[in-house]
Amino acid sequence: MRAHVPVLTLAIAALTMTSCTTPPPPAAQSGVKKQPFGKTPEGEPVELYTLTNKNGMEAAIMNRGAIVVSLKTPDRAGKLADVVLGFDTYDGYLQTNPYFGAVVGRYGNRIAKGKFKLNGKVYTLAKNNGENHLHGGIKGFDKVFWTAREAAGGEPRVELTYTSKDGEEGYPGTLAVTVAYTLTDKNELQIDYSATTDKDTVLNITNHSYFNLAAEGDILGHELTLNADRFTPVDAGLIPTGELRPVKGTPFDFTQATAIGARINADDQQIKLGKGYDHNYVLNRTGDGLSMAARAKDPKSGRVLEVWTTQPGVQFYTGNFLDGSIHGKGGRAYTQRSAFCLETQHYPDSPNHPDFPSVVLKPGEKHQSTTVFRFSAE
Ligand code: GLA
Repeated sequence: MRAHVPVLTLAIAALTMTSCTTPPPPAAQSGVKKQPFGKTPEGEPVELYTLTNKNGMEAAIMNRGAIVVSLKTPDRAGKLADVVLGFDTYDGYLQTNPYFGAVVGRYGNRIAKGKFKLNGKVYTLAKNNGENHLHGGIKGFDKVFWTAREAAGGEPRVELTYTSKDGEEGYPGTLAVTVAYTLTDKNELQIDYSATTDKDTVLNITNHSYFNLAAEGDILGHELTLNADRFTPVDAGLIPTGELRPVKGTPFDFTQATAIGARINADDQQIKLGKGYDHNYVLNRTGDGLSMAARAKDPKSGRVLEVWTTQPGVQFYTGNFLDGSIHGKGGRAYTQRSAFCLETQHYPDSPNHPDFPSVVLKPGEKHQSTTVFRFSAE
């Protein structure tokens, strides 16, 4: 029996030594990798830029639509999973695609009856959503090709530029837009938008990523906090009525972390109109800088997403129009509420609501806005 003591002691000593001498796992090779991502029907090559940070987190961006194709983030055990909806191939994005991962513009969300007045002149846009204009029209920023380039030095970053012609989709002014995606070593996907115009125009650019922090199933158990005391109620066409309504005492109150599914089928007129949540929240802001808009947590994987933005609003959309008919990555059927969107933005239909924050951009001015999707696990 006594002989066991030294053996055990030796074993412990060996273990201790092993743990002292085992080097830490190597940091991931941080950088940007450019790869082909199929061809357009006309034979033009499509590009995919994969940004990897030193923690191994990965974001893949396509030059068409400046689309976030995949976003791999760690759970509480460090296991990476892709937390955004989309397709495995370029061709997938050519089928019915409700803006998965895309940059939307020139005007994200709806403009009532596809009309607005600017400097006394009425502009007419496509009615591509019932009688209203949605997400920039028939061929919005989500469907055009952007010129992409890796930015040298620093954290992995890709910059995409696009020039929208005067009159494109009915909007006035030539608009030069840049969208830059940076993947920071703090596990943040930072999106910087900038734009200039040669005539007065309206502008509301956002990113339409669909998140599911569990990377499977639905998002009803995700716990959400929204830094907003008010939202903009809508009519049957999902156009804001103009009211800024307090969320207190309604199913729209996410000022305290609450499961997305807790009240999503509530007997509430606004919930019914949206078929769930499809509403703009008026963010509680102080100053012009980055301010926290939202925090979502999947209790099972522990993944947390915080959204910080310089924008005045956020569209909280619970994938109500997804019905299982779209088969995305790995053939997965994207069913209703299998993802949520947090589209940082100006309020929908602002061009027709002079009392909403202005969306007018004039020559000589520069539009600049930033949104940060910060990932962690707990
Ligand atoms: C936005 C809108 C929704 C819907 C989706 C795309 O979030 O508010 O009503 O149109 O885009 O399907």
